[in-house]
Order: sequence, then structure tokens, then C-alpha cells
Amino acid sequence: MSLTIGMTNQLERATSPEVAVGNLASPPPSGEDHGQRGPQLDRRNFLRWTTYAGAAVAINPLGKTSGCGSDIGLSEEDYLSVDPRNPTNFDAPLLLPGATGALGMLSLTQSVEMKVTTAQIDPGVGVSSTYEVYECSRGGDVYFNPILLAQPGQRVNLSMVNKLADQPTIIHWHGLLLPWLMDGHPSYDVLPGARYDYDFTITNRAGTYWYHPHPMAYTARQAYMGQASFVIVTDAEEEALRQALDLTLGVTDIPLALQDRRLAKDWSPLYAPDLQEDSDGYLGDVIFTNFTINPRMDVATRLYRFRVLNGSNARTYRLAFRQGTTLLPFRLIGTDGGLLEEAHTLKEVFVSPGERVDILMDFGGLRIGDELFLVSLAFDPANNLPGDILNPSGGKEAHQSMGHEVADEPAPPPRLGHGEDFFLTRFVVTSLANQTYSVPSPLSVFSPVVVDTATPRPIRMSASYNEPFIWTINGYSYQEDEYPIVVQKDTVEIWEVTNEVNGMPHPFHLHGPLFRVLDRSSSPEQLAPLVIDEKGRLATDLGWKDTVLVWPGERVRIAVPFFHNFEGEQIYLAHCHILEHEDHGMMMVNYKIV
Ligand code: C2O
Ligand code: CU
Ligand code: CU
Repeated sequence: MSLTIGMTNQLERATSPEVAVGNLASPPPSGEDHGQRGPQLDRRNFLRWTTYAGAAVAINPLGKTSGCGSDIGLSEEDYLSVDPRNPTNFDAPLLLPGATGALGMLSLTQSVEMKVTTAQIDPGVGVSSTYEVYECSRGGDVYFNPILLAQPGQRVNLSMVNKLADQPTIIHWHGLLLPWLMDGHPSYDVLPGARYDYDFTITNRAGTYWYHPHPMAYTARQAYMGQASFVIVTDAEEEALRQALDLTLGVTDIPLALQDRRLAKDWSPLYAPDLQEDSDGYLGDVIFTNFTINPRMDVATRLYRFRVLNGSNARTYRLAFRQGTTLLPFRLIGTDGGLLEEAHTLKEVFVSPGERVDILMDFGGLRIGDELFLVSLAFDPANNLPGDILNPSGGKEAHQSMGHEVADEPAPPPRLGHGEDFFLTRFVVTSLANQTYSVPSPLSVFSPVVVDTATPRPIRMSASYNEPFIWTINGYSYQEDEYPIVVQKDTVEIWEVTNEVNGMPHPFHLHGPLFRVLDRSSSPEQLAPLVIDEKGRLATDLGWKDTVLVWPGERVRIAVPFFHNFEGEQIYLAHCHILEHEDHGMMMVNYKIV
């Protein structure tokens, strides 16, 4: 069974004027200024269009006629064949990054044109369904969701062409510190048919970064439909590590993108949140790893590296390697912003939406025929929301006024709860290797952040008690021209990020600079076994971060160095990476570096 991706005539739909722009009160900007819209553009008409068109799309992602109620979801029989709780369902070969095709590795040394379009994908189960992808070609080869390779100091020239039928889009480079006009701020999303030209220089150290859409009102839906992939930055330190451990990207150094989805009857992704899900986050029940449902990977008796990205809209994973009932130790070597200083031996790690963990797993002690799984262990999802605050009957207007696409005909509820135990990838030992290695110590050297004496800035994540379903940061939800947080360039601030007790966990994400976690307090019980220092930190807190999970009642203090060499004021976003919280400006604010 192989994973195939091909062009589809969905593209025709994308260029049909009736569908693409016919409903727009004002036409999209044509060629001038490359179709980029400035923040000053009035989007009221656009949002009005979004509301009804979005709802239609959400119910009916493929334009097919759908039945009513649970009729639109994957049939029970089909679901049982891919239920991730059942280890016998894991047979599809894992899609590995290759020289071309889906997740093909593409160097950014040459300029690239990326189309945002639709493609037919067989996620390894012998069906062909429609996803949204980034597509580009080079030298006669076609790539879908390419893994972009870059080095510090490298200039990147990339243009994105929006070939979607009916939605604005823009690419955000998650984790990269870029001038804000290159960052994929939603003010610069482009309408169908238009393009956005990126021209920037990589300033980050080596690490596993990623890219995904960030338009107003459509981020959650588009990432869910498939638009997400990696940017892998490599530097000399990283090269030395690969040498020392004999790692080859795509062979023994494997990016793994985890995404959960609900599927329609024909196995296409079904994005149709009801009001409650648009508020809490939209969970899936089928787990995709690199676009493969329930994959299997054959391994040799040696060391492998897995760069795990949680690209899910709302699901957190508690990752572990399990053989039978035994958890096997692995080494955590990196997080969002690259390598840690030292490897940490762990048996489990939480990874919330947006976060990355870089892991070494040694299959060296195993025998041919041995099997083990990457799993997500059971945990308490800590959803402490009082039901009466987010009353489903009260919020629809608030949602619609912000351009939400709340399905009139919602998807059937997910079968896989948040925090359930399930399997992710099956590893089968099929060949012998004789490897001796030693993990470098230190892995990396970085200087501590020198924190200003300034008073910490409180960052409060909470639900708005006045407007049901609206999440806020410091009481604000997103306004395009509002900057609730203003910081001075070239200073380091401590942000004290808190989450209300009667809430739910929120992965707090910053665009722009990466940060360090200083300490955690009032953490939930279930984190206690994972705490590695007197500051209450977890192993994942020890490196450079762009996203940090904050549990209900918890306080996480981070140090953010607002250093950059860009011209003028910079406007970035701070938001929760549960994409339904981020989307439509719920738990999202602008912040400005002046
Ligand atoms: Cu993954 Cu606003 O970002
Ligand atoms: Cu919402
Ligand atoms: Cu959130």
C-alpha cells in the first residue's frame, strides 16, 4: 500500500469565478502590490461573506451532498478498521520524507513558488480523498507540503499563490524570528487568486520549525485540511550531531507530524465544529502521522531520531515508547527552538498543539521481529470549564460577528476522547545494524538569558464571562489595530503567564522571538512525576521555546528577549495554539516591539 498524491480537478472549482469570488461584496485586489492587503483594509464585507460561505464549506468540505446528522461521518465499520486504540490496525507504511513528492525535502537555496491548493491523497488505507496542501515544483519534480531546508544567514525567496476556491490565506513560519511583514500576520492574508512574496533571511539557530496558514478566521480549518509542514534549519552544531550519531534526514532522522482528524464517509477530512467545539477545540478520532493513518515503520537495531510536531488543532499527546506494557526510555535532545544543552532520559513527554520535541530512540537492544509503539498515554485533559459559562445557546451571534464558521450540521462527536490511551506508530525491527555512538555532551551551548529587573508582565488567559465562547488574553480578544502589549526593543521581559483554575489547558505561543521557561508553579498533580528541577520545570522547558502549555490554575514564567535587527516597529501575535481559540481572534492579541 503506498501513499499517493495527485492533482485534482478541485482546481477547476478554485478558479471558477462564481465560487471563488462571486459572493464577495468587493472583488479581491488584482495584481497590484501582489494582492497583499494592508491592515487598514476594511474587512466587514469580507467577514460577512465568510460567515455563510464558511458554514457551507464546513458542512460540506468537498461540495458533495451530505446526509443529516451522524450520516456525514466515517461509518462505524470503517472507523473500527482504523481505531487508534487497536494496535492491530497499524499497517500502512509511514510516509518518510524523500527527494520529492509528499513531504519531499526542498532546499531554500533557490527561490520557490508554493501554491496553496487541493490534492488527492491516499493516507495509506487504499482510499483517495481531498486535502489542502502546499504544492511546488522544481526541476520537473513536484512537492506537496515540502520539508523546507535552510541554514542560518540564508536568504529565502518564496512566493505563495492562493489557489483555494473560497478562502483567504497566508503562511506563518512558526518559530522563525522574521520581520513582521514576513511573519504571516493575518492582516496580510491574501484572497483567492492573489499571491504573497516572502523575502527574508533565516536568523534562527538549527531546529525543527514549521509552517502553516494564519488567515483571519480560517487558520484552524486550513491546518486541519492539511496545510502544514516543516522548516528544518541546520547549522554546524547540528551537522556535528548528525555525524556523531550517524543520522540521515528521512532515513534515521525522521520528522513526524501528528494530526488528529474526523473523517467524512468518503474518508475526506471533516471540519464541522459545533459551537461547543469551536469553543473548546475540535478533536479528531483518526490519527495521522505524516499524512499516514496508523503507520508502521520498519527499523534496524540502531539509533533513530524523531522530530515530533504536534500539528493537531486541539489535541495534546503524552508520548511514550511502549513494548507490550513496558515503557522504554528515550532521550529528549531538543524542543521548539533547537537542541537542549544536554540530553535528558525520559519515559514520557507531553506535547501540546504547536510544540515540537526532538527525540532519540535506540532500537539497538532489540531483536529481529520485535515490535514496539509510539503511543499517547492516558492523561487527565483537565477541562475544568463550568458548563454554564460557555452556554451553547448563547454564543452563536458572538461567533458569527467574528467571522466564525460554525456548522449548522456539525460533525458527529469524536470517538477518541482527549487524554485517552492510544497508539501512534508501530515500529517493527526488520534488520540488524551494528552501531556504536555516544551522544555529545553538551549537545549545544547557549548563554543564559539575562533578565531585566523590571516587574514581570502579567499575561492572563481566561474565558470572557460576558461574551460566551470568547477566550481572552488580559481581557482582550483580537482587534487588528489594537496592541494591548507594547514592549521595548532590545529588552528582556518576564511574562507571567497564568491560566484560570476553571478553564482548560492552553498552549501559549508567541510569534517573533523565542523564549525560555523560568519556572512553573501551581502545576497539576499529573505533572509532578515529570518535574526535573526546583523551579518546577519539565525537561521540555529547558530549551528555547515558542509554545508552552499552561494548565488550569498554573503559572508559567517565561523570559522573552525582544531583540531583533529589523527596521521599525514590529507587530507580532501572542495566542493560544488551540487553533479554534486562536482563530477568529479569540485567544489572540497583537503585541508591538517599539
Ligand atoms: Cu503556529 Cu500563530 O502560530
Ligand atoms: Cu471560536
Ligand atoms: Cu486555548
